[in-house]
Amino acid sequence: MAYTIDFTGKTALITGGASGIGYAIAEAFQEAGADVIVTAKSDNSLEKCNEKTRFGTLRKYKLDVTNDISIENIFAEIDDLHILVNNAGIVKRGLEYRIEHFADVINTNLMGVMRMSHDALPKLALTHGNIINIASMFSFFGSPMSPGYTASKTGLVGLTKSLANGWSEHHVRVNAIAPGYIVTKLTKPLREVDEQREKITDRIAIKKWGVPEDIAGAAVYLASDRASYTTGTTITVDGGYSIT
Ligand SMILES: NC(=O)c1ccc[n+]([C@@H]2O[C@H](COP(=O)([O-])OP(=O)(O)OC[C@H]3O[C@@H](n4cnc5c(N)ncnc54)[C@H](OP(=O)(O)O)[C@@H]3O)[C@@H](O)[C@H]2O)c1
Repeated sequence: MAYTIDFTGKTALITGGASGIGYAIAEAFQEAGADVIVTAKSDNSLEKCNEKTRFGTLRKYKLDVTNDISIENIFAEIDDLHILVNNAGIVKRGLEYRIEHFADVINTNLMGVMRMSHDALPKLALTHGNIINIASMFSFFGSPMSPGYTASKTGLVGLTKSLANGWSEHHVRVNAIAPGYIVTKLTKPLREVDEQREKITDRIAIKKWGVPEDIAGAAVYLASDRASYTTGTTITVDGGYSIT
């Protein structure tokens, strides 16, 4: 028999899953049989998100991870929950030395993960489910242009360890993935500057930027029972950027 991962009967919620990395994870979870809910903050992103994938239909909801009522509303809509992917994130490159932008990025990328995870716990405890947080290369390096993003993603690695430790008694695993440079709308401004794009490409060991699908395999693994002894860790998926 083939080596399989089967999410049939499981429900996954992916914040910011209407585009980019989150959408690729959504498709992969659906391919493995899960019922998948994706969210976006804006109506525009939600409308642009094609809910008909090769593997079925995604459920789409509007969600703002900085807003408690918005979070309460989404959990009221969901019955069982087996997998939460905290993928929603922003960067305000060049602006984050101003405290209001620094705070906005922390509030979304770090506090948003805590809010979502906290409210998901009762459902995840019932299913012995798991959480995957999307970290970054800037969980390990300091971006001079994005101190808020760096602080949020570094914090996410620590938060992942704390929640994994604290919630093991509920049989809830918590892990993270640190993607390298991936072609999405978030990195469009970086890719548009030739010098910047090439400098990054040069440093990547396998000499190319990743695509969202490159992150999905790690997410499927971490969310599955194949990873039942893995908790509190951050898996790097970066084409070798961090080893050069
Ligand atoms: N692309 C990369 O190279 C890379 C590398 C490392 C880590 N990451 C991380 O990967 C994650 C996904 O990013 P991506 O590159 O796939 O970019 P993306 O397509 O822009 O996805 C970001 C998603 O987050 C949502 N979002 C933003 N603010 C939110 C809020 N307050 N509440 C709820 N949702 C919110 C966005 O919704 P709207 O579209 O409606 O604003 C969007 O759906 C982020 O956490 C990012 O930091 C990306």
